[in-house]
Amino acid sequence: MSLGRFPATRLRRNRHDGFTRRMVAENRLSVDDLIWPIFIIEGQDTEVPVVSMPGVSRVSLDRLAGHVATAVRLGIPAVALFPVTDPAKRDEEGTESANPDNLMCRAARLLKAEFPALGLIGDVALDPYTNHGHDGVLRDDYVHNEDSVAALVTQSLNQAQSGIDILAPSDMMDGRIGTIRAALDAHGLIHTRLMSYAAKYASAFYGPFRDALGSGSLLRGDKKTYQMDPANSDEALREVELDLAEGADMVMVKPGMPYLDIVRRVSERFAVPTFAYQVSGEYAMLMAAANNGWLDRERAMMESLLAFKRAGADGVLTYFALDAAQALTR
Ligand code: PBG
Repeated sequence: MSLGRFPATRLRRNRHDGFTRRMVAENRLSVDDLIWPIFIIEGQDTEVPVVSMPGVSRVSLDRLAGHVATAVRLGIPAVALFPVTDPAKRDEEGTESANPDNLMCRAARLLKAEFPALGLIGDVALDPYTNHGHDGVLRDDYVHNEDSVAALVTQSLNQAQSGIDILAPSDMMDGRIGTIRAALDAHGLIHTRLMSYAAKYASAFYGPFRDALGSGSLLRGDKKTYQMDPANSDEALREVELDLAEGADMVMVKPGMPYLDIVRRVSERFAVPTFAYQVSGEYAMLMAAANNGWLDRERAMMESLLAFKRAGADGVLTYFALDAAQALTR
């Protein structure tokens, strides 16, 4: 490839006008790329702001349809639901996750009835339901792999039967994708998709999310025996490979911005639908700076989201989904 030589070649020429910049743009963000995570809470006529995530609230179910209608109107393809479980309903085993009338299942039924064409993504893990804040069940203070997977299977069937279209296991247990897939198929749920949190790191950037769910103060210890070490990159490829072999339809890398190198490696190596999660701490950082007048909120938001596309992501879970969709449709 001849790279050309200055002054015959001037790369600034194509940058001279907006029209050529648009013509040569290699990546574009569209509303189809956005997935909106939503926190749901018990109660009536309630919206409880998440202090560490300015602009984000936990909404009660009677307000949920109104809340989601904006996303549907803007063309956002899917929302990801995260339930705030009443502390009284949390226990050692996370049994509320199996209750067909839990907050998650009621939200799914309600949204499916109201917006049949909207994609519903359900987080599969036990941390919203356990009194110790871990994503699985403890045996001698260790998050037990197979016992946790068994609970995740029950939770998955429960969510799928309530209308969740895409199950998103965020727990990082070994072997859960294959076991969940087999159980779904055995129940005739062949269309239920699996978006695996395949490469999920033990990250400090989940702090505001744990505030939102009320699981941060409960968490005993840390999640390093199941979530990945931030030092590792090759291991992410093995995680993704295993989940694909077990039947994952889509894979995810999480967190997002600090792990764009992983998004790039995964999308290049496997060429499968690859998503990234711009997590709560990333949102909190950008909003804190914007609210201090240190960053231009909209420009930083759009640039950060475009970066995911450039890294090879097919879509992004982001708390900015509504604002970004608004900016894109203006
Ligand atoms: C837990 C889960 C977490 C997030 C999504 N699902 C937190 C954790 O692993 O502790 C984080 C999302 C965010 O920070 O926005 N199953």
